[in-house]
Amino acid sequence: MSIYILGIESSCDDTSASVFKDDTVLSNKVANQDVHMAYGGVVPELASRAHQQNIIPVVDKALKEANVKPEKIDAIAFTRGPGLMGSLLVGTSFAKGFALANNIPLIDVNHLHAHIMAHFINEPDNDIKHPSFPFLCLLVSGGNSQIVLVKSHTEMEVVGQTIDDAAGEAFDKCAKVMGLPYPGGPLIDKLAKDGNPNAFKFSKPRIKGYDYSFSGLKTSFLYFLRDQLKENENFIEENKNDLCASLQATIIDILLIKLKLAAKDLNIKQIALAGGVSANSGLRDSLQKLAKTQNWETFIPKFAYTTDNAAMIAVTGYYKYCNKDFISHDAAPFSRVVF
Ligand code: KG4
Repeated sequence: MSIYILGIESSCDDTSASVFKDDTVLSNKVANQDVHMAYGGVVPELASRAHQQNIIPVVDKALKEANVKPEKIDAIAFTRGPGLMGSLLVGTSFAKGFALANNIPLIDVNHLHAHIMAHFINEPDNDIKHPSFPFLCLLVSGGNSQIVLVKSHTEMEVVGQTIDDAAGEAFDKCAKVMGLPYPGGPLIDKLAKDGNPNAFKFSKPRIKGYDYSFSGLKTSFLYFLRDQLKENENFIEENKNDLCASLQATIIDILLIKLKLAAKDLNIKQIALAGGVSANSGLRDSLQKLAKTQNWETFIPKFAYTTDNAAMIAVTGYYKYCNKDFISHDAAPFSRVVF
């Protein structure tokens, strides 16, 4: 008998709902919040208010598109954390209300696990190849940069992570310094396509093991621009493409050096990308090139499943449902990283 799962994601500034039949997506609706554009970053208070406005219409759309009535849902899975507390509270409260009203189990999902589980989403008319266990996943988003050893659908171990900023933050903060709007990552990606990645050199961290650091790069980028602007006030405008290409190449280099090291030490050839930054075309290309030299098989989710979305929450919920891993109604969200 098939299991129907409703997934809810509200950890940051996207309100999303998704309906699954077993491990197959039937619908995945996302309401973005444009309100933050004017502020150069997500404003938590505004994000929670927008979630409050969006959540019921988004769930309604997801159920209608899936052609599934609320009474048919077997369990509801929601993002418990990490994320913005106000935003998480909206999704958590909605999920509890829905579970109570329909007398179904409640499943809490770790947002970071879910980004990785995006690799196990099936589509009705599409044959998607999934990584086999164990594999390494480079999880790069606005809030996290981690190398995760994935042992099963429910067992994961962080082998390396950022000690300060995340890769997405490095993209966004450097974009802000160049006067680009938030989120800067996709814009840097676009501008980098017409730039020279070797035009400028920025500092790379020297951190032991598989951990990352991006705060030094951000500072070196800031000081470099400050010095250049003293000589030429149009420096950014005149060199935007080269600046973006060089910055992007440095971030990619930092990410892939550690991934290569971890894969070699752990003797793993199945390599996956996850998180919002995995949409970066330069990162995707460089990973493919590296994969050829290392004999890796690589896995990159569809764009719709790389940024924040409820499909990844629902598929994680499905596997937790199979293990009868439910949570009681007194569960509170967590804002900080708990892997
Ligand atoms: O995973 P995500 O949607 O949200 C969380 O942080 O959970 O990731 C958002 C991050 C932002 O920092 C954004 O700038 C970055 O992903 N991003 C990109 C690209 N698309 C999104 N960074 C570089 N290149 C892109 N194409």
